[in-house]
Amino acid sequence: MRAVNRLQDKVALVTGAARGMGRSHCVRLAEEGADIIAVDLETAAEELDETARLVDDLGRRCVTSFADVRVGTSLDNAVEHGVSQLGGLDIIVANAGIYADLAPSWELSDVAWQRTIDINVTGTWLTVKAAAPYLGSGGSIVIISSTNGIKGGASTAHYSSSKHAVVGLARTLANELGPLGIRVNTVHPGSVATPMILNTAVFAKLRPDLPNPTQQDAAVALAERNLLPVPWVDPVDVSNAVLFLASDESRYVTGTQVVVDAGLTQKV
Ligand SMILES: NC(=O)c1ccc[n+]([C@@H]2O[C@H](COP(=O)([O-])OP(=O)(O)OC[C@H]3O[C@@H](n4cnc5c(N)ncnc54)[C@H](O)[C@@H]3O)[C@@H](O)[C@H]2O)c1
Repeated sequence: MRAVNRLQDKVALVTGAARGMGRSHCVRLAEEGADIIAVDLETAAEELDETARLVDDLGRRCVTSFADVRVGTSLDNAVEHGVSQLGGLDIIVANAGIYADLAPSWELSDVAWQRTIDINVTGTWLTVKAAAPYLGSGGSIVIISSTNGIKGGASTAHYSSSKHAVVGLARTLANELGPLGIRVNTVHPGSVATPMILNTAVFAKLRPDLPNPTQQDAAVALAERNLLPVPWVDPVDVSNAVLFLASDESRYVTGTQVVVDAGLTQKV
């Protein structure tokens, strides 16, 4: 992708930066001139290093920190460290999230429900709480929701509830921060080719008709959900929406939802 420096010398915080879309956001924003504060769990240390190497290869700086988004103090430390190294903060991408333990609502365990709410909702709020005080006028907060933040889905009560909840959070933040010139929006990806859905547990949910479904089998089921003839979008397609919302090209866009889903939410 050719860089046009839409984020020249801006600093962006990205949570869940070790892999999947988080890594893609880091790389795409760095391609446009941003330095990155990349945060993820300590268990993802190797992958987080690889994200940092990819940003470094683009000639931008990447400060990595370990933090569990459920723990406010760990986020406070990560943000403080990153800002002290990079000199400020302009963009927050609250991306970390989980999609796990899928089950019908009445079979979902209390633990699975709470873990998803804690990471996807409380973690998003704590991310913004730790980082928003560093933003100034022109700042942008992008919260990663899902098409499950627009419509429900079978066996996703915990996940769909969490992804709807962050829309309420974003709308509230947009009201609170608008007068300060800070924008807040959500991005709603459909199926995206990352480890989150490209795994055997999700393949089995998608193809209960097969004993050991492969990625190709799952792709058939996922493609049926979309208007466009593709099973999923690539992480960079979502990162391009994040880039738009992070940049001044969207300077009057706030409190809204950007959907990148190959038509999933509109299919009848
Ligand atoms: N992949 C999809 O199809 C899809 C679709 C819609 C929305 N999303 C959302 O996009 C975001 C990124 O998803 P992805 O597909 O890249 O997932 P992924 O599983 O590939 O990556 C998620 C990252 O978040 C990190 N993470 C998980 N729990 C954390 C915690 N408690 N603290 C800090 N970091 C944590 C993981 O270590 C990992 O690096 C998530 O919010 C997800 O819900 C994904």
